[in-house]
Amino acid sequence: MRWATSRRSSGSRSRPTCPPTSATRALDIGCNAGFYSFELARRGADVLAVDVDEHYLRQARWAAAELGLADRATLRRLGVYELAGLDAEPFDVVLFLGVLYHLRHPLLALDTIAPLVAAGSSCRR
Ligand SMILES: C[S@@+](CC[C@H](N)C(=O)[O-])C[C@H]1O[C@@H](n2cnc3c(N)ncnc32)[C@H](O)[C@@H]1O
Repeated sequence: MRWATSRRSSGSRSRPTCPPTSATRALDIGCNAGFYSFELARRGADVLAVDVDEHYLRQARWAAAELGLADRATLRRLGVYELAGLDAEPFDVVLFLGVLYHLRHPLLALDTIAPLVAAGSSCRR
Protein backbone atom coordinates (compact mmCIF):
# COMPACT_ATOMS: atom_id res chain seq x y z
CA MET A 1 0.00 0.00 0.00
CA ARG A 2 1.29 3.45 -0.77
CA TRP A 3 -0.24 6.30 1.16
CA ALA A 4 0.68 9.73 2.43
CA THR A 5 3.15 12.32 1.39
CA SER A 6 5.78 13.81 3.61
CA ARG A 7 4.89 17.22 4.96
CA ARG A 8 8.32 18.19 3.73
CA SER A 9 7.52 17.18 0.15
CA SER A 10 6.77 19.87 -2.38
CA GLY A 11 3.63 19.39 -4.44
CA SER A 12 5.63 18.25 -7.43
CA ARG A 13 7.30 15.51 -5.39
CA SER A 14 4.08 14.18 -3.91
CA ARG A 15 3.28 10.54 -4.59
CA PRO A 16 -0.08 9.17 -5.62
CA THR A 17 -2.22 8.56 -2.57
CA CYS A 18 -4.29 5.61 -1.45
CA PRO A 19 -6.40 6.56 1.57
CA PRO A 20 -6.55 4.10 4.44
CA THR A 21 -9.73 2.13 4.96
CA SER A 22 -11.22 0.76 8.16
CA ALA A 23 -9.18 -2.40 7.53
CA THR A 24 -5.92 -0.49 7.49
CA ARG A 25 -3.72 -1.06 10.52
CA ALA A 26 -1.20 1.67 11.15
CA LEU A 27 1.70 2.06 13.54
CA ASP A 28 2.99 5.54 14.36
CA ILE A 29 6.37 5.32 16.11
CA GLY A 30 7.35 8.45 18.01
CA CYS A 31 3.82 9.79 17.70
CA ASN A 32 4.41 12.82 19.91
CA ALA A 33 1.03 14.50 20.52
CA GLY A 34 -0.49 12.35 17.80
CA PHE A 35 -0.93 14.63 14.80
CA TYR A 36 -0.23 11.95 12.17
CA SER A 37 -1.89 9.21 14.22
CA PHE A 38 -5.09 11.19 14.32
CA GLU A 39 -4.94 12.04 10.62
CA LEU A 40 -4.69 8.32 9.89
CA ALA A 41 -7.49 7.54 12.36
CA ARG A 42 -9.67 10.30 10.90
CA ARG A 43 -9.29 8.59 7.51
CA GLY A 44 -10.47 5.32 9.01
CA ALA A 45 -7.28 3.49 9.98
CA ASP A 46 -6.93 1.50 13.17
CA VAL A 47 -3.85 3.12 14.73
CA LEU A 48 -1.34 2.06 17.34
CA ALA A 49 0.58 5.18 18.35
CA VAL A 50 3.66 4.82 20.51
CA ASP A 51 6.09 7.23 22.08
CA VAL A 52 8.75 6.94 24.72
CA ASP A 53 7.77 10.19 26.43
CA GLU A 54 4.73 10.19 28.72
CA HIS A 55 4.51 13.97 28.51
CA TYR A 56 3.62 13.77 24.81
CA LEU A 57 1.33 10.80 25.32
CA ARG A 58 -0.69 12.81 27.84
CA GLN A 59 -1.17 15.48 25.20
CA ALA A 60 -2.11 12.81 22.66
CA ARG A 61 -4.68 11.25 25.01
CA TRP A 62 -6.27 14.63 25.55
CA ALA A 63 -6.36 15.30 21.81
CA ALA A 64 -7.79 11.84 21.05
CA ALA A 65 -10.66 12.49 23.44
CA GLU A 66 -11.27 15.98 22.08
CA LEU A 67 -11.29 14.68 18.50
CA GLY A 68 -13.47 11.68 19.33
CA LEU A 69 -10.80 9.32 18.02
CA ALA A 70 -9.93 7.42 21.18
CA ASP A 71 -11.57 4.27 19.82
CA ARG A 72 -9.49 4.35 16.61
CA ALA A 73 -6.11 5.30 18.06
CA THR A 74 -4.49 3.26 20.81
CA LEU A 75 -1.74 5.19 22.60
CA ARG A 76 1.03 3.29 24.35
CA ARG A 77 4.23 4.27 26.05
CA LEU A 78 6.82 2.26 24.16
CA GLY A 79 10.29 3.05 22.92
CA VAL A 80 11.21 1.97 19.42
CA TYR A 81 13.52 -0.81 20.63
CA GLU A 82 10.73 -2.23 22.80
CA LEU A 83 8.72 -2.86 19.63
CA ALA A 84 10.80 -6.03 19.26
CA GLY A 85 8.57 -7.50 21.97
CA LEU A 86 5.33 -6.35 20.40
CA ASP A 87 3.03 -9.27 19.73
CA ALA A 88 1.31 -7.93 16.63
CA GLU A 89 0.79 -8.71 12.99
CA PRO A 90 2.75 -6.52 10.58
CA PHE A 91 1.14 -3.15 9.91
CA ASP A 92 -0.12 -1.83 6.57
CA VAL A 93 1.26 1.64 7.27
CA VAL A 94 4.22 2.46 9.50
CA LEU A 95 5.19 6.04 10.25
CA PHE A 96 8.61 6.67 11.74
CA LEU A 97 8.83 10.40 11.29
CA GLY A 98 11.40 12.61 12.93
CA VAL A 99 12.70 9.93 15.29
CA LEU A 100 15.73 8.33 13.66
CA TYR A 101 18.10 11.19 14.38
CA HIS A 102 17.23 11.09 18.09
CA LEU A 103 18.45 7.53 18.43
CA ARG A 104 21.72 6.17 19.71
CA HIS A 105 21.23 2.98 17.70
CA PRO A 106 19.36 3.97 14.54
CA LEU A 107 20.23 0.81 12.62
CA LEU A 108 18.98 -1.35 15.46
CA ALA A 109 15.75 0.63 15.35
CA LEU A 110 15.35 -0.04 11.63
CA ASP A 111 16.04 -3.74 12.17
CA THR A 112 13.44 -3.74 14.93
CA ILE A 113 10.81 -2.04 12.81
CA ALA A 114 11.34 -3.99 9.60
CA PRO A 115 9.38 -7.12 10.63
CA LEU A 116 6.46 -4.88 11.63
CA VAL A 117 6.06 -3.52 8.12
CA ALA A 118 3.72 -5.68 6.05
CA ALA A 119 4.93 -6.64 2.59
CA GLY A 120 4.00 -3.94 0.12
CA SER A 121 3.22 -1.36 2.80
CA SER A 122 4.78 2.06 3.37
CA CYS A 123 7.43 3.20 5.79
CA ARG A 124 8.25 6.90 5.85
CA ARG A 125 11.00 8.34 7.96
C1 LIG B 1 10.68 15.34 16.41
S1 LIG B 1 9.42 14.46 17.27
C2 LIG B 1 8.52 13.81 15.86
C3 LIG B 1 7.07 13.62 16.19
C4 LIG B 1 6.18 13.14 15.03
N1 LIG B 1 6.54 11.81 14.60
C5 LIG B 1 6.23 14.12 13.88
O1 LIG B 1 6.77 13.80 12.83
O2 LIG B 1 5.71 15.22 14.03
C6 LIG B 1 10.28 13.00 17.87
C7 LIG B 1 9.40 12.10 18.74
O3 LIG B 1 10.07 10.87 18.90
C8 LIG B 1 9.95 10.47 20.24
N2 LIG B 1 11.05 9.56 20.53
C9 LIG B 1 12.36 9.85 20.76
N3 LIG B 1 13.06 8.75 21.01
C10 LIG B 1 12.19 7.72 20.92
C11 LIG B 1 12.32 6.31 21.07
N4 LIG B 1 13.49 5.74 21.39
N5 LIG B 1 11.22 5.55 20.90
C12 LIG B 1 10.02 6.10 20.59
N6 LIG B 1 9.84 7.43 20.45
C13 LIG B 1 10.91 8.22 20.61
C14 LIG B 1 9.98 11.75 21.03
O4 LIG B 1 9.43 11.60 22.32
C15 LIG B 1 9.16 12.66 20.14
O5 LIG B 1 7.80 12.61 20.44
